[in-house]
Amino acid sequence: MTSTRTPRTKEKPHPSGDERYKVIDRTIRLFHYEQDALLEVLNSAQESMGYLSEDLLIYISRQLNVPLSQVYGVATFYHMFTFEPLGENNCIICTGTACHVKGSNEIVQALATEFNIAAGDTTADGLFSLRNARCLGSCGLAPVVVLNGQVSGKATADGVKKRVKEVVSLSKENLQQGQEAG
Ligand code: FES
Repeated sequence: MTSTRTPRTKEKPHPSGDERYKVIDRTIRLFHYEQDALLEVLNSAQESMGYLSEDLLIYISRQLNVPLSQVYGVATFYHMFTFEPLGENNCIICTGTACHVKGSNEIVQALATEFNIAAGDTTADGLFSLRNARCLGSCGLAPVVVLNGQVSGKATADGVKKRVKEVVSLSKENLQQGQEAG
């Protein structure tokens, strides 16, 4: 990829008025609309929105002047990107080589069985998503999991399952209380 776009002095805000697009726009500006920044922009977009919707990918394609096919190509190449909204709680389990050797698949299996979903899925009530990642860059701590944004190393299947059950049941209680109050 090469940079071909002339930096703009005045960008058009996203027509939705969604504040989160400003974060993405800031990243795009930071990289001077360079097409090489596609990966950073996708990262920023996912952090702001939680997932990469089709609209979002089209927006990025236009802002960076990169063909949509190329945006899809990069986004689908990396496991860290997701194209559906995550559940209220989410657990990302690293299944890279170091973590795999240290038993990360047992953690995936334990959660998949407990919540009756496959890796990559979200429970029907929307309270929990299970995701895999290739390498989270902390191989010395293998196996590594990220639960609701908090990274922990040397994880065990029982330990992770217990913590996930706790946060999900807390969400269920909050949901019930909200329904009773509403
Ligand atoms: S393989 Fe899991 S953090 Fe690198």
